[in-house]
Amino acid sequence: MATEDLLQAALKARARAHAPYSGFKVGAALRAADGSIHAGCNVENAAFPQGQCAEATAIGVMVAAGAGPIAEILVVADGPETVTPCGGCRQRLVEFADPSTPVHLAGPDGVRATVSLGDLLPRAFGWRQVKEQEQS
Ligand code: THU
Repeated sequence: MATEDLLQAALKARARAHAPYSGFKVGAALRAADGSIHAGCNVENAAFPQGQCAEATAIGVMVAAGAGPIAEILVVADGPETVTPCGGCRQRLVEFADPSTPVHLAGPDGVRATVSLGDLLPRAFGWRQVKEQEQS
């Protein structure tokens, strides 16, 4: 699957990251089911817990555009370690994606690994459990 458009969108967003506290800039770009691309960066805050991950920003951009669900997502950061979405963002992605949804893990040079969302968050809590509870 071609990911160059996602990589470029994520890198562009990453360049605008507001990360003065960690110095760790992250970009994320997701392709919605209709083919549209939505990108985001991390937005940190002096009150540290109020900081937002790049994936959360990209999801918000997608929802505000009226798009979804997520067909695939790419996350990019620099450094020798390949960045993976944090636990909270895995749950955020589950809301708009399937266990089979590809998650591309990239460096500025390109995609380093592709995993599935189900691999990142097995047995995730989701709307099916909520619906089952409503019906019981
Ligand atoms: N961060 C992301 O934006 N996405 C991830 O997948 C991992 C971490 C951000 C949060 C914080 O602004 C910085 O990276 C350092 O943790």
